[in-house]
Amino acid sequence: MMQTKDAEISLNEVSTHDSIDNCWVVLFNNVYDLTAFVNEHPGGAEVLLEHAGRDATLAFQQAGHQTVSESRLEPYKIGQLPTHEWFDVERVFPTKSSSVFTSTPSVLP
Ligand code: HEM
Repeated sequence: MMQTKDAEISLNEVSTHDSIDNCWVVLFNNVYDLTAFVNEHPGGAEVLLEHAGRDATLAFQQAGHQTVSESRLEPYKIGQLPTHEWFDVERVFPTKSSSVFTSTPSVLP
């Protein structure tokens, strides 16, 4: 299947890409193929692999990355989750939402 940056990719599909040579993660409801980036990640391969095939949004936020702009993520974007699978922090974590997502990155929909 041809992947475009607008492709709709489900969590179920993402979950099958969960290894060092096939590493997809979800960040801000977008799907990224980080396979080529795993060994270049300044934070190390292990943290990425811990979230391979999964939603890594909260871990990404909590690891800092304040200096990491959307343009650094863009080359790896291959699609987005269907809207019914979007991670809505207000719903999941109502009391913590404002403190966890203090500075909203521009990649948030
Ligand atoms: C395309 C995606 C990503 C990019 C471009 C990226 C980039 C970076 C960069 C540049 C750093 C160096 C420190 C900084 O500038 O903040 C870093 C550190 C780090 N990253 Fe990532 N990262 C990505 C994804 C992730 C993900 C998905 C996770 C976790 C699930 C993660 C966890 C970490 C951790 C734990 C550090 C170390 C922070 C520290 O040293 O205090 N990163 N990352």
